[in-house]
Amino acid sequence: MNGKHITAIVLAAGKGSRMCSKTPKQYLELCGKPILYYSLKRFEESSVNDIILVTGKEDITYCKENIVEKYQLRKIRQIVEGGTQRYWSVRNGLNAIISTDYVLIHDAARPCLTVKSIEQSIVEVMKSGACTLGVPVKDTIKVVDESCMGIATPPREYLWQVQTPQSFCYEDIMKAYRRMEQEMNTDITDDTMIMERYLNKKTKLILGDYRNIKVTTPEDLLMAEIFL
Ligand code: CTP
Ligand code: MG
Repeated sequence: MNGKHITAIVLAAGKGSRMCSKTPKQYLELCGKPILYYSLKRFEESSVNDIILVTGKEDITYCKENIVEKYQLRKIRQIVEGGTQRYWSVRNGLNAIISTDYVLIHDAARPCLTVKSIEQSIVEVMKSGACTLGVPVKDTIKVVDESCMGIATPPREYLWQVQTPQSFCYEDIMKAYRRMEQEMNTDITDDTMIMERYLNKKTKLILGDYRNIKVTTPEDLLMAEIFL
């Protein structure tokens, strides 16, 4: 797009412990197809140039045969092994890229992503250099102490739930990850946090879709199936 090269990293190397199922959640089926299939397909249909799939070492052959070849996905350049934490999986995905301009990092556990949201992310990352999909929170959010006493109520108008894809200039996110690797922090939950902490760079939030849920616990499967 605009002569720029755009790469998606799709993360599917988690164990899905909160789903409490034997099969990692990204391989559970919704409407007859594995959860992982859906977001790969949406990237395939978008203006993203190529896709790096990050998965468990033992699942690489399964993904190649039962997802990439079976559904004839043509933009997947590499399937690489993930790490023990989400950020190590992202790092492995980033290291697999030979050259690109922008990177969109997405959780395979969000199958209801739309092509429209991908395209919005691409437009915004080209403008501001770092963006993520998100939605304003609907509930009042409490900060609690160790004994679960509510100790503060941040004003709701400033609270958003962050989703994926999270999109960055390739050079910036690589620089942030190289710094992160030296410090080995363990409280990192997403890539916007890595950009804030290691590059001092803010991320623009763009209005996504309340249906772009992260399938995490069993009841999310029902919701995702309805949305799909
Ligand atoms: N992920 C990954 N590598 C990890 C951990 C997570 O690639 N070491 C991926 C998951 O496969 C998922 C996404 O990151 O698509 C978001 O993570 P999450 O929803 O937390 O999935 P899991 O870590 O698998 O689930 P849980 O935290 O319940 O174990
Ligand atoms: Mg997890």
